[in-house]
Amino acid sequence: MKLKKMFALLAAVVFAVVALAGCGGSNGSGSKGDKKVLKVGTNADFAPFEFQDKEGKEYQGFDMDLIRAVGEQMGYKVEIENRAFDGLIPALTAKDIDVVISGMSINDERKKKVDFSDPYYDSGLTIVVRKDDDRIKNFEGLKGMTVAVQIGTTSAKEVKKIEGVNVRELNSSADTFLELNAGGVDAVVNDKPVNENYIATSGDGNVKELADRLTSEQYGIAVSKGNTELVKKIDDALKALHENGKYDEIYKKWFKAGK
Ligand code: ARG
Repeated sequence: MKLKKMFALLAAVVFAVVALAGCGGSNGSGSKGDKKVLKVGTNADFAPFEFQDKEGKEYQGFDMDLIRAVGEQMGYKVEIENRAFDGLIPALTAKDIDVVISGMSINDERKKKVDFSDPYYDSGLTIVVRKDDDRIKNFEGLKGMTVAVQIGTTSAKEVKKIEGVNVRELNSSADTFLELNAGGVDAVVNDKPVNENYIATSGDGNVKELADRLTSEQYGIAVSKGNTELVKKIDDALKALHENGKYDEIYKKWFKAGK
């Protein structure tokens, strides 16, 4: 009888320990409460795709709304981290973050290091110069000029291919515009929608965009190399958002005219 009681007690204790351990498990890495967490890396200085509001708290922009919608569709809680653009792919490789959404163009060089979702936005590169400056007409005209680009971007890569350009690589796309306004460089090369947004919203009429467009690029959501399961989940979510009108809704919010 006594022995039976002891066994019952032991069983109860074991049961309680296992149950508690189970609870702890659901709070471990990658999940919060019962929702899994998607850790997102971005470089939030690239309006209208990713930027912070004036108080510097909330992440805003097309990419930010899109990844929140993708996360919701996948049943994940989205957590966004702001990082240097050239640190995003290393952070994915180190598994510090799960995905990158940062106006990142899909290209073969990056595909060696990371995997990409289906493309979600078409882009390309244009030149911005000071309004009173008519020396530069197109990309060829950058020869002999000093040009600001953001480190680690396709702009940096493409401008370096043009012979005789003095390339100044700066930390953010905002820095490149500051440098142009300060007269430190002759031109900025950057993504077309970001250049247009800057001209439309910065309020200073000092700069203009040239019509010449270099490259056709497509943005994709990047994940660590070989994570095909996550790519599939993201692609399925993107498809669903295209079908249910959510993608168009977000697109119209940030690009007014619609597609
Ligand atoms: N599309 C360009 C690239 O992939 C520039 C992206 C820069 N993004 C940013 N959030 N600063 O290199």
